[in-house]
Amino acid sequence: MRAELGDVPVKDDEGTLTTYGHDESDTADYLPQLVAFARDTADVQRVLRACMKHGVPVTPVAARSGKSGGSLPLEGGVSLSLERMNRILEVNPEDLTATVEPGVILEAFQKAVEEKGLFYPPDPNSQAMCTLGGNIAENAGGPRALKYGVTRDYVLGLEWVMPSGEKLDVGRRTIKGVAGYDLTGLLVGSEGTLGIATRITLQLIPRPLRVMTALVIFKDVLQAARAVSAVLAAGVLPRTLELLDDVSIRAIDGRGFNFPRGAGAAVIAEVDGNVEEGLFQELTRMGEVFEQGGALETLMAQDDSQREKLWAARRVVSSSLRAMKKHKISEDICVPRSKIPEAIERFKALGARHGLTVATYGHAGDGNLHANILYEGPHERPKVDLALEEMMRVTVSLGGTITGEHGVGLAKRNFLSFEQRPELISLQRSIKTLFDPKGLLNPGKIFPPEKIS
Ligand code: LAC
Ligand code: ZN
Repeated sequence: MRAELGDVPVKDDEGTLTTYGHDESDTADYLPQLVAFARDTADVQRVLRACMKHGVPVTPVAARSGKSGGSLPLEGGVSLSLERMNRILEVNPEDLTATVEPGVILEAFQKAVEEKGLFYPPDPNSQAMCTLGGNIAENAGGPRALKYGVTRDYVLGLEWVMPSGEKLDVGRRTIKGVAGYDLTGLLVGSEGTLGIATRITLQLIPRPLRVMTALVIFKDVLQAARAVSAVLAAGVLPRTLELLDDVSIRAIDGRGFNFPRGAGAAVIAEVDGNVEEGLFQELTRMGEVFEQGGALETLMAQDDSQREKLWAARRVVSSSLRAMKKHKISEDICVPRSKIPEAIERFKALGARHGLTVATYGHAGDGNLHANILYEGPHERPKVDLALEEMMRVTVSLGGTITGEHGVGLAKRNFLSFEQRPELISLQRSIKTLFDPKGLLNPGKIFPPEKIS
């Protein structure tokens, strides 16, 4: 491989292989044998061609912040890092578009567009580390999806390198465009199994001039969940309605932000727009609905620094929960909004039945809940797996999906059949084979291993 790759930078020391064998999914570590660091599209093509020629598995990777095992090299081989392709090629305020390479860190991109009065809303809550390429691979969502949609809604076009190394231009630069099949839509969220985005053209929107944030405190999570449903039914569309349950609050309380005593659940409600009075009206209407729903108190962020403190606390929920017990599985199921209270209730109950701590937080406004199972060690894993399976079955029975934003990857491939019929899975396997006949690009992801009959 070294000979084939010419001057493409590679590493195979133990430290590098260990680093690239790990992500944030809490599945397991899978080490590559070589990590190649692409500098440009030609490098990506070169690595893919070499891997196909020699039958070597190859797995795209960048920040390793994924939560479904999408970038873990399950069968070893080459990890193809896109981190060094980190240039923002264009931000165009007239067209309201931007073109970037896949290794650009989301936060750097957001800063660059905001400086020009523009806005790129998707953020999976890890903007300081995650990359746009990873966001595209997983179709990342995040808190603002409630009002603004997910990554896919912002991707206009992609320079796409097929597993064979062939380069295609998919999509468009215009806001509208219906020529041919929506391949961009297919490739966004394809979890690194159909090829690699080497250039990404994104749609931007004007940056809202004002943002107001409220923290609404409840006695318990069910009350809070019902109030979220009531707000949406009342015709208000905030940009976020984030829920924190009692365990999540305990995990982050005092980490830069102190919750009032007796807070058994909280909702972070945020509105944005250009006219202050309009925002006040929306917040007031929401406040009434929350109060009718039993809110104990509502705290308004008085300025940007208070807002930032609150969001900083929200961003560390995941890592703070991890600090409570040694292990954590973070699910990202999504249910129809009317089913949020029932989902939360049933997850708590199944946690209690299995003797496991379940913490639920997340994007309640979307019905997208991070139900986390916390546990101490491998001895508890069998019951964790049972609880997880039950959680997935409950979700599907409520009309939901097993993954709202983290992707199926490795972590949830055995649950896909709970949600999708065999015919549908088989059609998707055919698409994978069409793109990657040798099955060497990111093998083993999304679909369960085929049974040998
Ligand atoms: C979050 C990640 C876990 O929302 O999706 O915090
Ligand atoms: Zn999330």
